[in-house]
Parts: sequence; structure tokens; C-alpha cells
Amino acid sequence: MTSEARAHKGDPLRGPRDVGSAAGSTGETMTRWLVVVLAVVLVAGGLFGYDQGVISGALPGIKAAFSLNVFMVQVVTSWVTLGALAGSLVAGALSDGLGRKRTMLLAGALFTFGAVVQWTAPDAAILVVGRFIVGIGVGVAAVAAPLYAAELAPANLRGRFISSYQLAITIGIFLAYLVNARLVTAEEAASAPWRTMLGAAAVPGLALFVIALVAPESPRWLMMKNRRAEAEAVSRTVEPAVDVAAHLDSIELSLRKDKEAAPWGEIFHREWRRPLMVAVGLAVFQQITGINAIIYYANQIFASAGFATEASRATVTTWAIGGVNVLATLIAIAFIDQIGRRILLLAGLIGMGASLAVVGVAFQFISPEGQAAAGPTTAGIVTVASLVVFIASFAFSLGPVVWTVINEVFPARVRGRGVALATAINWGSAYLVSQFFLSLVGAIGSSMTFWLFALFCVVGWVWIYFTVPETKRQSLEQIQQQWTQRT
Ligand code: BGC
Repeated sequence: MTSEARAHKGDPLRGPRDVGSAAGSTGETMTRWLVVVLAVVLVAGGLFGYDQGVISGALPGIKAAFSLNVFMVQVVTSWVTLGALAGSLVAGALSDGLGRKRTMLLAGALFTFGAVVQWTAPDAAILVVGRFIVGIGVGVAAVAAPLYAAELAPANLRGRFISSYQLAITIGIFLAYLVNARLVTAEEAASAPWRTMLGAAAVPGLALFVIALVAPESPRWLMMKNRRAEAEAVSRTVEPAVDVAAHLDSIELSLRKDKEAAPWGEIFHREWRRPLMVAVGLAVFQQITGINAIIYYANQIFASAGFATEASRATVTTWAIGGVNVLATLIAIAFIDQIGRRILLLAGLIGMGASLAVVGVAFQFISPEGQAAAGPTTAGIVTVASLVVFIASFAFSLGPVVWTVINEVFPARVRGRGVALATAINWGSAYLVSQFFLSLVGAIGSSMTFWLFALFCVVGWVWIYFTVPETKRQSLEQIQQQWTQRT
């Protein structure tokens, strides 16, 4: 048994139900600090999600204000993704160099600044600069926040802490859809208050900054920097009931090889190949199975399925996609530490693959033109029902579990870089899917496109079955041992 496992054994505060109900003064202290950690994660995820969802509602107003052509519309839309890709690539080095806390302060500051730039942009070029800056903030926070949660959460609550990040993303998307739905019913969508919508992101940006100010630094990072006394002080405050010395010893043991962060090249070394493969593979499968094609283009899919008015499409998108996404993520959070990662992933992919196959069949009965005026057909209703199953299956599996596993498979030495690389690849894959979905539909048709996503679900299922190990209820140090034992 590792010393960390020893430190946790028999500790009543570590039971899965104890976060909200810890009794006694030490319990209250632990709860308060873990709530701060959780708040950092929730706000960072909310920023990510709001940004994913808000642009479709803001675009009509932006287009009208700056007379944008199609090319510029795409630039305004996609430069957040580019910024996020860049942000996630530097985030690993930042969070290893500056520390997790200061990296999140920086992310909050970037996000706030970018939102203000968008809010006040005098022309399209400045608006794009603002979008890029916000994107960097999103990318940095998307790496730093779950990493921070993985390092501060107790082992048996870690899954829930990291999947709370996913919950926050879904709430952010949902809120953005709600705002969009309001705009659609406004009398003039083109004069919609797009500046306020984009600028409003400064509020959670500032919130992230303020919460990160009071949040504790990660003891694992402090140990990496040879600052054991400070690590001890933080651990005592955050988890007073744990045997701090044993806990820090186990961290030290896992950092023993080298106390400095590994150089970029080391992440590709043979010894880290398995965790790297698992993290990158999951990042790619999360995207190529089609989630963001649905998130971004739900409105158009529902239009082809016969939902005639903007208002009806907005309602279906908000509740069938946005609302179901939040609810099913809540279910995942409740079960991730009991059921485990593998079962959730494998079960979710079955639901996703089957529902995509059905959507493909339904689109065989939907003609590309003339549906909108006719109202939803049986095939249209089947499409909505199947997409609800798809979103629910994604939200209790690949959505939260992929981020959880990415943040727990790497050894401390390469964790910052590994998480950053996997996150960047996730953004890259998201960019490709959302960029080419409509072209793919144009080239091979809707049915074939959905069947292609379904095929990726099958491939993903087989790959996960043979490659991804179970990591529930193991300390980060135990997971690391698993790799060395297996190679
Ligand atoms: C994915 C996002 C996606 C979101 C949907 C996240 O886990 O990384 O790309 O938009 O889930 O809820």
C-alpha cells in the first residue's frame, strides 16, 4: 500500500457522501476550502461553455454591425477555438512554471480583458483580436482548472470534482442557448445586443480572477518546487484530517526522479507512451464522434427535420440539447466514482452509436428541401428523440469521463504538459469537426455523415475496451504505478 493510500485509509471524511455533510470543526474547514477549489473549477468550466454557445446568438447582430461576409463570419466564430488551442499549448508550461493558482489568475484576467475588447470593438478586426484573447483565456483555464481539481480533490472524490468542470461547461452552453432563444424571439434579431452578450463574459472572467486569488496553491506543485513547508501548510488547511506527512511523502516519492517539470520532448518518451496514448485517444474520440456538430448545428439539423420557425428550433435546441446535456452530466457526477470510468465510457458509446445510426436512418426519410414549411414529420420526431439519447449518452460518459481520465493518467512529472497536449488535440479535433461538418453533409449526405460518426463510436468502443484502464478510487500515485507495472 502506498503511503498516500495509508494516509487515506480509515479516514471518515473521505467517504463519497461527505463533502456537504462533514461534521465537526475540522470537517467544516475541509469543506470550506474544497468549496473554493470547486468554485474555481465551476467558473472556469462555465466560461468555456458560455463561449461555446453564445456566438450563434450574437452573430446576426455582429454581421449587421460590421457588414461581414461569410469568410469573416467564420473568422469571428472560429478564432476563439484558435486562441484556445494556443492557450492550451502554453498552459502546461505556465501551470508548471507559475503554479496552478497564478495560471488561473492569468486565465481570468485574459478572459476579462478579451471580453472587454469584444464589448468595445470599433471594427471587425479588433473584435477578432478580442475573440482570440478570450480563446487564450479559455484554453489556459481548460487546462489549469481540471488539473488543479485533480491535484486538490481527495482520491475518492476526484472523479466528481473533475466532472463538475464538465457540468459547468454544460451549464454555460445551456445559459448561452437560453440567451440565444430570447434573442430569437426579440423583434429584431439583427439589432440584438451582441456587445452585451459577449461583454457579459467579463463577469465570470472577473469571478475566476477573484476566486483564484483566495484559492490555495496545489501542494503537488509546491512539492515540485521544493517548497515542502508551504505544501504542508496548504494540505493542513485543505484536508486537516489527513496524515499530511504521509501524503506529502507519497507525492515526494512520485516526484523523486526529478523535481523539475519535464521538458516538452519528454512527454513523448517511451515510458509515458501509454498514458499519452490513452489521453490523446480519448481527446480525439470525444470529438470525432460528433458532439460539437450537434452542439453548433442543432438548429440546422432541426430545420431539416421540419421545425419551421426560429422560435421552435431555439426551444428544441435549448431544452432537448442544452437541458438534457446538463441533466445527464449531473447523473454522471453522481456515479463516476462508484461505477467507474470504463463502464460509463463503454455504455455511453453504445447509446451514442445506436442513436446516431437511427438519426442516419431517419434522414433517409427527410428530403433536404421543403421540410421546414411542412412541420415536424415522424422522421423529424425520431431525429429529435435520437439526438436526446445521443446527448444524454455523451453527457454521462465521454463528456465528463474523458476530462477526468486525461487529468489523472499522467505522472506528476509530465502531467502539466500531457494534459495541455491532450487538451490542445481536443480543441484541434473540435475545430476540424465543426469546420467540416456542413461540407461533409454536402459531400456525402446527412445519413452517411451520421453513420460515419456512429462508426467512430464503434471504433472508439473497441479501442477503449482494450486500452483504457480503470482509474476510479486510486490515488494519482497508484495510477502512475499501474503504468510502470504494465510496461
Ligand atoms: C467537450 C466540448 C463539448 C461539451 C458539450 C465537452 O466535454 O470537450 O467540446 O462542447 O463537452 O457538453
